[in-house]
Amino acid sequence: MARPASEIWQELEELPKPTLTMLFAGESDRLASLCSTLDVPGGSIRFDWAKTHLDEVHLKAFAELARTMDFAGKRKALLSGEVVNVTEGRAAEHTAQRGLGAEESVAEAQNFHRRMASLVSAIHQGALGEVKHLIHVGIGGSALGPALAVDALARDGAMVDVHVVSNIDGCALEEAFAACDPATTLVAVASKTFTTIETMTNARSALAWLEENGVSDPYGRVVALTASPGKAVEWGVDETRILPFPESVGGRYSLWSSIGFPVAIALGWPDFAEMLEGAAVVDRHFAETDGADNLPLRAAFADQYYTRLRGCQTRAVFAYDERLALLPDYLQQLEMESNGKSVTAGGDAVGGPTAPITWGGVGTDAQHAVFQLLHQGTNLVPVDFIAAIAPGDELDTAHHRILLSNCFAQGAALMAGKDSDDPARAYPGDRPSATILLDELTPATFGAIVAFHEHRTFANAVLMGINPFDQFGVELGKAIAKQIEAGNTSFDASTEALLEAAGIK
Ligand code: F6P
Repeated sequence: MARPASEIWQELEELPKPTLTMLFAGESDRLASLCSTLDVPGGSIRFDWAKTHLDEVHLKAFAELARTMDFAGKRKALLSGEVVNVTEGRAAEHTAQRGLGAEESVAEAQNFHRRMASLVSAIHQGALGEVKHLIHVGIGGSALGPALAVDALARDGAMVDVHVVSNIDGCALEEAFAACDPATTLVAVASKTFTTIETMTNARSALAWLEENGVSDPYGRVVALTASPGKAVEWGVDETRILPFPESVGGRYSLWSSIGFPVAIALGWPDFAEMLEGAAVVDRHFAETDGADNLPLRAAFADQYYTRLRGCQTRAVFAYDERLALLPDYLQQLEMESNGKSVTAGGDAVGGPTAPITWGGVGTDAQHAVFQLLHQGTNLVPVDFIAAIAPGDELDTAHHRILLSNCFAQGAALMAGKDSDDPARAYPGDRPSATILLDELTPATFGAIVAFHEHRTFANAVLMGINPFDQFGVELGKAIAKQIEAGNTSFDASTEALLEAAGIK
């Protein structure tokens, strides 16, 4: 019988804390147990967690914690379409988009994908006239995934030039207008609810721009990506250009649904399908592997270790690949909107810290900006490095060699540190990192790393007892902004003065 979580945490807290160097010296099979490779079509991915403080004793205790928290039962519930988002009474069926889930949900996803594939192919064949540009308006989960995927995969030779616009600040939309020719531009309106004020305002302005620039039927240039198709019809989109997705696919998990339309438009359907297949490989691994061999669960063990046992308030992700520059932004929403909570799914206090603040950037840029703190600051920051062995560029190979050498050098330096008689020049070392190394960045390996992070987020939620699929924390600010728009305010003196200064009141 598994012990209660509090007892396991107590044991974990009392375990000795050997340094990374000691762990490497003491465990000859450290790489075998903490560095694994997953084969994805067209290349494999190495997940190296050896430079974290997890050792066999921790792995065993965390595996027991996973049993106590009913990880296997909760995973089964997730993957079979049960109601796991208990506060909203919904399933969370993003894996059904990749072929794993309740039979009827997988069939529905396949139907929606067929509909999407045929619209994508019709557009590529000229059914809507010449299409050179797509302005994709959406925000949060309706923008971050498409923006990341297009930037990562469609840098050379996109079939359609995609601009993702999320911010309500008109500067964002104007930047897209400046880069597009209205006569050959389509507008994708991406919103699960089809009510989000930023998206609907941007959509209206995009239509006005088309009209002002001589497009006689601007609504005829709109594709709606939504779980509320009725609202899109009411708004004026023709039913044939509405690509629905199920209510049970959460916004930040929706890249795989019709929200991924810009990815399919930019790359073509076969690449979009390959991205789904890469994610499906991780789904199968996640569904079928137990204990610390389960890669997302192992990563969650490390996340919990640093947050709860070492008091780390942040975790950093550095992509040593320009094409993945938007990955930290994407992961911020995925992890912080999912697990940035204080209560369990049952409404009790979690009883420990929850999601750390996810932040990061690209290497090597970040080395010359924020790495000082990582090496010598007083905050312990667990770092993930992500890189690809095959270069994305076609320049002299020196670029890529230097890029990768720097990536690996940083992990080694953080761990080893360096003594010096001069305190300003001493590096304490013993600073953890994990490395995800792709053979190559392809739609499949891309899909796999995104799915890995989705499951890692879920695994963390299970270990903390959190429901990762709601996001009530974003509602209060929205409601207050609406109140301000309605001119109906009586706030604190500071807020009232700001409203007055800006001429809003
Ligand atoms: O405000 C948060 C949020 O609800 C996110 O969870 C979501 O991804 C985003 O807004 C956009 O919502 P929608 O797709 O309904 O426009």
